[in-house]
Amino acid sequence: MNVSTKPFNLRQDMEASQDITPPLQGNLTEVHEGDAFDLMGKLPAESVDLIITSPPYWGLRTYGLDHNEEILREWEAEGGSKEVSPSYDWYRLHGGCLGLEPLPEWYVSNLVEIFQRSAPALKPGGSMWINIGDTYFARWSSIRFDGRQGLGDNPRMRRKTPMGGFRQEKQLLLIPARFAIAMQAERWILRNDVIWEKRNVPPRPEKDRLRIAHEHFFHFVKRPKEGRAKYYYDMSAVEEGARDVVRVNAAPGSDGHSATFPVKLIEPRILSSCPPGGLVLDPFCGTGRSLAVAVKNGRRGMGFEITSNFSAAARANVTNRQFATAAEDEVDLPKQDQRDSQSHLF
Ligand SMILES: C[S@@+](CC[C@H](N)C(=O)[O-])C[C@H]1O[C@@H](n2cnc3c(N)ncnc32)[C@H](O)[C@@H]1O
Repeated sequence: MNVSTKPFNLRQDMEASQDITPPLQGNLTEVHEGDAFDLMGKLPAESVDLIITSPPYWGLRTYGLDHNEEILREWEAEGGSKEVSPSYDWYRLHGGCLGLEPLPEWYVSNLVEIFQRSAPALKPGGSMWINIGDTYFARWSSIRFDGRQGLGDNPRMRRKTPMGGFRQEKQLLLIPARFAIAMQAERWILRNDVIWEKRNVPPRPEKDRLRIAHEHFFHFVKRPKEGRAKYYYDMSAVEEGARDVVRVNAAPGSDGHSATFPVKLIEPRILSSCPPGGLVLDPFCGTGRSLAVAVKNGRRGMGFEITSNFSAAARANVTNRQFATAAEDEVDLPKQDQRDSQSHLF
């Protein structure tokens, strides 16, 4: 991957002294406010059993964060080119927000760099589950606090994205695939590409394509120096049928967040990929659903979140059993699937 490594060591050196201690049994959860990039670098080596998260998707939501729309021009003025992504540290120090990169290639590069930072903290037998959705390219796009679905009164920001190569009008960008391939290039082993099928996606105005009703949930593990990857996995805790397509309705948001994890989507991942008492890290924890589900199931939880309002909400939610309990309408199984699972036709 073409990434320029222009280091800004001052900030990293200052932060290196403030390491994070994972929560112990008596104190099951912790939520830290800050950039996942910094916070991941402070975790003790091999302290995390499971990373489960959903980072901001590309070009969809602002989460109320300020973003420098001139950043590509500034990069080019410093001698950079579109084809070479800046380092994440350069990007954010110039006012860039994760998910609002001028180009999808920069987004993939930032994501991979951030997840690479977590590698030393993940145990050799640990797992990383990353949920990510796709986006269509539009030369002129609208970005809303809440995502594109809101339309109506939801205030929007209009922005122009440079065209070129695969960046063409109406193009489905295949961002999840590009991300997964870039992770493989960084030595991660991809074990599953779980398709999260959402029955309750809102209608779209387009008359020339189907609406996107799925997202990807990638399961990565570490590649050992020798031999085949070995990692914790409790097969008895996955969905009946153990198929790589799971049907779960998208959850209504909580605490003003519009991208909250549904419990039914993450509970089987937490139970099957983290041993009892193990540490679950969500580096983009939003309002803390994954942490609450981890704690409800006898695991420890650690969350990172850049905004103060969502990190405060996560702190309040993590030990709330109600928040960690699936809504009645999360799973919508039609009769056909129920017959399949009873007759074991997998
Ligand atoms: C897709 S949402 C995650 C929602 C979460 N799964 C839940 O159930 O609430 C992504 C979150 O990442 C946060 N975020 C964005 N950039 C970040 C960064 N650099 N470091 C940490 N958190 C960040 C956003 O504020 C947002 O809450």
